[in-house]
Order: sequence, then C-alpha cells, then structure tokens
Amino acid sequence: MKTIFSGIQPSGILTLGNYLGAMKHFVPLQDQFNCFYCIVDQHAITVPQEPAVLRENIRRLAALYLSVGLDPNKMTLFVQSEVPAHAKLGWIMLCTSYLGELERMTQFKDKSDGRGESIPGGLLAYPPLMAADILLYGTDFVPVGEDQKQHLELTRDLAARFNNRYGDIFTIPEVRLPETGARIMSLAEGTKKMSKSDPNQGAFISMLDDADTITKKIKRAQTDSDSVVRYDKAEKPAVSNLMTIYSLCSGKSLEEIEAMYEGKGYGAFKTELAEVVVETLRPIQERFEQLFHSSELDDILTAGAEKANKVANEMLYKVEKVMGMARL
Ligand code: TYM
Repeated sequence: MKTIFSGIQPSGILTLGNYLGAMKHFVPLQDQFNCFYCIVDQHAITVPQEPAVLRENIRRLAALYLSVGLDPNKMTLFVQSEVPAHAKLGWIMLCTSYLGELERMTQFKDKSDGRGESIPGGLLAYPPLMAADILLYGTDFVPVGEDQKQHLELTRDLAARFNNRYGDIFTIPEVRLPETGARIMSLAEGTKKMSKSDPNQGAFISMLDDADTITKKIKRAQTDSDSVVRYDKAEKPAVSNLMTIYSLCSGKSLEEIEAMYEGKGYGAFKTELAEVVVETLRPIQERFEQLFHSSELDDILTAGAEKANKVANEMLYKVEKVMGMARL
C-alpha cells in the first residue's frame, strides 16, 4: 500500500482555505492509502508562540482533523514534537541543504521580509524539517495546497541528493494538488492567498466561525462592478474565487453555478454561498465541540505517536547507519 503524509501548523485558527485546499482531500485518502497526518508544532515555533495558546492550538487542530472525518482506525494522527526522529532527520536534511536554495524559498522570503537582522534561523531551516517529516515515512504522495509546492520540490531535491551520496534510502515523494481549490484566495483581495495570519479578519473564514460571522464576511467579500457571476480567473479573480468555494462546498460544477445565477447579480449568489458554506462547516463544528474536551483525543494522539515513532525510528536508523553515525 502506498503511503501519504501531510502536515498542518497549529498556528492560529484554521481557515476555509486550509480545509478546501488540504484537509477535505485527506479524508477519502484514508480508505486507499497508509496515511500519516501530523500536527507540526515544531514548524509553528519558527515564529514566536505563546505557550498557552500553542498548547490550545495543538489540541484544537487535533480535534479538527478528526472532525472533518478522519478516522483513527484508518490513519495515524500525531504531534510532530512527540516523534523525536523528525528533529533528528531535520538536522540531517539541513546539513544536506545549500544556503542558496533555502534563501530562495518564497515563504522564507515572505516571512523574513522586514525583520532586518532578527530573522529567526528556524524560518530558514523550515523546509529541511518539512523534508524530514515526509521522508521518514517512505512517503509516496503529499497532498497539500499550492503554496507548499516549492517546499515539495526542495524535498525531492534533498532526497535525491542524499540517495546519490548514500544509496537508495529515501522514496522520492510526489506532490498532490487538488484540481480545484489548490489556492483559495482572500475574501478582501482576490489576488492574495487566504491566510490565517491575515490581520484583516474579514479576509478569511475560520473553520470555527459561526453562521452570522460567515454570512457577514461573505456579504462584504470583494466582487467587481459588472455584477455577472462568471468564472474568469484573470478578469474576475474575486468572483471566481467565491465560485470555487461554492463549487467545492456544494459539489456543483462552475458551469452549473454560472447557469443558476444568470441575470441574478451578486446578492442572491452571496446569500446562497453563505448558506452552502455554513452547511459545510456545521457538522464539522458539531463534532469539534464534542471532541475538543474529550479524553479520547489524548488517547488517539498517544496511539498515533507510538505508531509514528516506530516507523520513523526505523528510517532514522537506516539513515544514521549509512552516514556512519549509528553503531553497528
Ligand atoms: P499550513 O499549516 O500553512 O497549511 C496547511 C495546508 O493548507 C493548505 N493551505 C491552502 N490551500 C489552499 N488555499 C489556501 N488559501 C491555503 N492556505 C493553506 C497548505 O497548502 C497546506 O497543505 N509547511 C506546511 C506544513 C507542513 C507539511 C509538512 C505539509 C509541515 N511539514 C509535510 C506537508 C508535508 C504548512 O505550513 O502548512
């Protein structure tokens, strides 16, 4: 059986972008593949985190993973810092990397912009740790949104570089982008990615926003002046983004949506889009409320870490052995 690995940072509240670009696609994969889904807290601390907030966000993300429909009997869910092999292989991957290629990463450039002399070293080391996450499990496919594509390309380069030097140790993983929704855009600006770190709360929908908030945010979302519900990414990026969200939440195709709102303007479209989004998130939010405070959550994470440790340690041993670090 082929292996899937993906991770999400427990930093802030997850957005509809995280759901439609990544999480939603994790669910059907658990029936066909050996899936590892990770709460990457060591990636989150590459920028400062408040301890109490981080602790709560880790739990919240664990509950959300399960609330979208992931089943602990079918996949492995765990916290990155509970599997020490990630940090160990992360170091080895950092030593396999070149400074130039790390400095070229778009996310590094974006996140370090304006920090002057105070760019956290962890931001530069972020992609090699991500490579370690993936390579530890012999991963074949990595389902992510488009913003992670460049990190995946680096992961493949690092794996190939290591294999070249030490023999065929790592599986070279492939990225799996969703056909639609790989890049859900901000509600405030149709050309900017929807991001949980956006200072404008109206720019994103949180997976835990209530119905009123979702409706208000969608009503205020950017459109354009011609009042036509038509998919055209270049000319009408904001409306096209709303249509993508509609399509993913309702299962209707973009053509069907265009036909439904022909001659009706944005008012009716936005009202019904809000309903569709609320109905998509409602069952997730209901399950979340039950899970967040349950001890079941702790048991699932403990079992997940145990399984992940086993698999990861085997790979780490292989790596350290070929490098001359493990005693034979
Ligand atoms: P993170 O936590 O930023 O995002 C989690 C997942 O959500 C996707 N995503 C989006 N998809 C579509 N539209 C958007 N607006 C949008 N915003 C976020 C991301 O592409 C991602 O799939 N570096 C990763 C976490 C990570 C990881 C890994 C992923 C660490 N190790 C190993 C895969 C494999 C990140 O910061 O994701």
